[in-house]
This record gives sequence, C-alpha cells and structure tokens, in this order.
Amino acid sequence: MNTNKKMWFKRLFKYLKPYIARFLIAVVFMSAFAGLAASLLVVLKKAIDGIFVNKDFAMLGIAAVSVPVIFALKGLADYGRNYLLNYIGQNVIRDLRMELYEKLISLSHNFYVQNSSAKIMSRVTNDLNALQTAIVKVPASLVKDFLTFCGMLIAAFYLNWKFSLIVFIGFPIAAIPLVMFARKIRKASKQGQKQMAEIYSSLMQMLLGFSVIKAYNTEKHEELKFKEENDKFYDFALRVIRVDSRSSPIMNFLGAVAVAVVLFFGGADVLNGAWTAGAFFAFIAAVGQMYEPVRNFAKVNSQIQSGLASAERIFEVLDEEPAIKDAADAKILKPFEKSVVYKNVSFGYTGDKNILDVFNLTVNRGQSVAFVGHSGSGKTTVAALLLRFYDTLSGSILIDGQDIKEVTLKSLRQQVGIVSQDVVLFDDSIKYNIAYGSFDASEQDIIEAAKNANAHDFISALPDGYDTLVGERGIKLSGGEKQRISIARAILKNPPILILDEATSALDSESEKLVQDAVDKLMKNRTVILIAHRLATVRNADNIIVMDNGRIAETGRHEDLIRMENGIYKNLNELQVL
Ligand SMILES: Nc1ncnc2c1ncn2[C@@H]1O[C@H](COP(=O)(O)OP(=O)(O)OP(=O)(O)O)[C@@H](O)[C@H]1O
Ligand SMILES: [Mg+2]
Repeated sequence: MNTNKKMWFKRLFKYLKPYIARFLIAVVFMSAFAGLAASLLVVLKKAIDGIFVNKDFAMLGIAAVSVPVIFALKGLADYGRNYLLNYIGQNVIRDLRMELYEKLISLSHNFYVQNSSAKIMSRVTNDLNALQTAIVKVPASLVKDFLTFCGMLIAAFYLNWKFSLIVFIGFPIAAIPLVMFARKIRKASKQGQKQMAEIYSSLMQMLLGFSVIKAYNTEKHEELKFKEENDKFYDFALRVIRVDSRSSPIMNFLGAVAVAVVLFFGGADVLNGAWTAGAFFAFIAAVGQMYEPVRNFAKVNSQIQSGLASAERIFEVLDEEPAIKDAADAKILKPFEKSVVYKNVSFGYTGDKNILDVFNLTVNRGQSVAFVGHSGSGKTTVAALLLRFYDTLSGSILIDGQDIKEVTLKSLRQQVGIVSQDVVLFDDSIKYNIAYGSFDASEQDIIEAAKNANAHDFISALPDGYDTLVGERGIKLSGGEKQRISIARAILKNPPILILDEATSALDSESEKLVQDAVDKLMKNRTVILIAHRLATVRNADNIIVMDNGRIAETGRHEDLIRMENGIYKNLNELQVL
C-alpha cells in the first residue's frame, strides 16, 4: 500500500472506531463459525466410523442430535456476523453520507461551477455503495474465511498429516490463477465505477435538456450517445463476470483433482486399514470446504482496493473547503442603516479576465439604483458579490462601513434579499416555495406577500390554491407565475436590501405594471438594486448605472441620461422606444 492509501485507510478507520466493540463480537462469531465447521468434521468422522464401520447404534443417536445442533449454532454465528458487519457498514455509510451532504451544502458557487451534478451524485451513491460493500465483505474475508480455512487445515492435519501436507503445498499453486483473476477484476470494476458516473451524466443531461431534445428532434442523437456509455459499462461489467465466473469451475476442477489424488492413495490406505473410512470422508470434506475461503480470500485485495478508491473519491469531496466562509473573528452585521459601498472592486471568474474593473458605487439607504447595460456586462455579477457568492479579487464592499468579508455570512444574507434572474423553485407546494427561508410565516403573511407580488389571483384560481405542487424546478407554472412566486418569497423575507435581477422580465405589460407597483411600494422603505433590460422598468430609479465592460459608463437619472450625446443609455432608449 502506498502512503496515500495508508492515509485513506487510517481516515476510514476513524469512522469504524466507534463500532470496535461490535466488530470484536463479530470476530467472536466468526471464530465460533470456523470452530463449529471444523468440529462438524470430527463428528462426521466419528459418525461414519461408529455407525457404518463399528455398527454402533448409540452413535446414530449422538450424530442425529449433534449434527443439527452444530448446524444451528453455526447458523447463529453466521447470523451474528452478518448482522453486526452490516450494522457497522450501514452506520459508517450513514455517517459519511450525512457528512458528505453537510459538506456539499456548505461549499460555495465555484465548486458547483467546476463539478457537474452527475459527478457529485455518483459519489454520494455509487462510491458510498462500493465502500459499504468493502466494509461488510473485507472483514468477513479476512477473519471468517481465514479462520475457516485454518480450522479446516487443522482438522485435515488431525485426520491425516501426510495428505494435509500435499494439500497445503497444492493450495498456493491453486491460488495463483485466483490472484491473477482478482487483478483483472479490480481493473475492470474500477473502470466500471468510472463509467457509471458517465451514465449518470448522460441521463442528467437528458433530463435537464428534455424540451430542447424534443423541439430539435435530437432523440436519436441522445439515444446513440447514451447507448455508447451504456454499452461501455456493459463491457466492463461483463469483463468482471467473465473473469469472476472462471474462478469457480477452475477451483472446482482443482478440487476434484485433489480429491482424486487423495482417493487414489488414501483409498488404498483405507482398504489396508491404515486409515478409517470416517477419517477419509471427513478429510475429503475438509479439503472441499477449504476452497470457498480461498476463493473469497483471493478477492479480498480487489475489494480493499475498490473500497479505498471509493473512499478516496469521498474524502476528496470532504476535503474541499468552501471558498467563501466566515472569518475566524466574523462579526454579526448590524441592521442596515446607511449605505452599501463598492470600493475599487475588481473581480473575475477566471484568472485571465476581469468582469469588474475598479468598480465604485455608493447606494444610500432608501435609494433605488438600477443597472442597465449589454448582456454580459457584469450586472448579475455586481449582485452576486454583494451576497458573497464570490469574493472580490481586490477592493471591498462595505455595508455601513463594515467590510462584508468581516461579518458572518448568515447575518449578511439575512439583510439582503434577491429575486434572481433564474428563478429557483423547489418541488413542493406554492405555499412552501413562498415561505422558503421564512418558515415561521403565518398563512396570512404568505397570502399578503402573494398579493403584493400580484400572484394571489392566479394562485387562488388553481384547483389546489396555495397547496398546488409546482413540480420539479416549477415546471408546472408559467415563466411569469414562477417569477411572481419568487418575488413573493423576497417580499415575505422582508430584507432591508433587495436585489431584483430581471425580476419582471417574464411578465406581460399588465402584470409587469402591477408588479412594478408592488416593487415601487416595496422600494419605499428599502434599498433596492434593480437590474433590467427594459428601460421602462428602471425609469423611476433614483440612480441609473449604465454598465459597459465591467465599468460604469454612465450614471444619473433617466432624464439626465437621455440627454447625453452618443450615450449608451440614450441609444438603448431610442431603440426601445422604436
Ligand atoms: N460562473 C461563471 N464562470 C465564468 N464566467 C462567468 C460566470 N458567470 C458569468 N460569467 C461571465 O461573466 C460575465 C458577466 O456576467 P453577468 O452574469 O454578470 O452579466 P449580466 O450583465 O448579468 O448579463 P445579462 O444581462 O445577460 O444577465 C459574462 O461575460 C459571463 O460570461
Ligand atoms: Mg444577468
């Protein structure tokens, strides 16, 4: 094992540690299993010799009672082992799954930009499954199979040391193909594991892009892509099965050869009277029972390897640090009073290009500031920075003079509400979606917020009203309906600072006007950052910022901006009026 793997193993062991007592009990069960299996051979020998050779009737009774008793005890020991190891496995996996979820939910936007959902899904499902299998099977192989093999070997030696020696030497030779098989299986199953992530990814793409696939008639194209991934997985899976199913017949054949050898030489000994018939049969049974443990044992390395590979992928996620987190001495941001200031802010998503370049802006309390400008000019980015979805590269954002990097994320985000450009709804009821984040809101508050967002009428017209389920990502609602629910959510949260990013873009003129009224009302006691393409929406803002290439190109009120010669705003306005 290289040092890396040792490290994974050590870390994994930490998760197993709380269950060490149970593990030791499982070891006792496994030892008992091996001992009982060996003792069965002794009974077998005694029974055959006593009953068939010596015609001892008393033995008949003893055998008739002890065989089922030993089997029952063996079964009990196996039950105990199976239950305890699975108990440990399930517990470790539950702990890890929870920890993974907690980590994933704590990570920042940049992690999700870099890692596809399918890749993440496959770690939480596939890799955890593989690890669980390893946790349950590896100790069983290492302890139960090892002890059973030893028990059989001791019994065999006790029955006939000469033949045992032959078998003992023969076994390592028989194990060679098994070890070779295990290596092949490990490689193919590793590839299969990776391929499963590709299948997830393909499926996820289809689910997300379903409408486009239909509209562009690309079902066949997607099918072929999926087929390729699916067939690749099939190939890896079959490769595993092909190699794995080879080991059984080969072992059985070798076993038969061993039995033949023993039969040939040993049979003569029995006829000579040098060896009893009971010992002979018990010996053959012992040798026969050695194969299964050896077979399992040969696989144990591949199980360890695949478990560790999965553990590595799981720990990789657990080791991710959220890019954005509270500073060690983070303070609570006091209720907003004066101003939001962007001071010399520069920012880029990637190292090579700055989206915002020495950006300066002051928004005073109660003011509404509107952002307009070409698509991609950085408007949403300005909003994302205020919520600390990303940190500025240089410069700082101050709320009431307090750098937002120095306050807790919780207290910051409590004060800022956002209606984002891409509306996010959860697969639950309308009520749940409006109250999301304000879970203690009363029914009355929810309806009030919906009314203010001009959503109450359409919600009431639905058969299930506020209990209507919106479907995944709100698929059962229209674009404008989704937008109004998301506005209601922000209204209910009632934050002092509100960001509306294209919040009314999907509304018809009439609803837009109504929502605009609501927004105007909202703006009264609030500081609002309004992002919009349609200039009609921003006309009443106290200050309009025209963004161009990460910089502020123009700023002022509507009346001032339309008078600027060659101004971007003036141009946009003329285009939109036309
Ligand atoms: N996660 C990201 N990683 C890399 N680049 C990004 C990311 N998000 C946005 N960008 C880039 O940053 C630039 C500004 O994006 P932003 O979303 O702020 O524009 P916008 O002004 O809101 O545009 P629109 O009016 O179309 O909404 C764009 O060029 C975009 O390609
Ligand atoms: Mg945008």
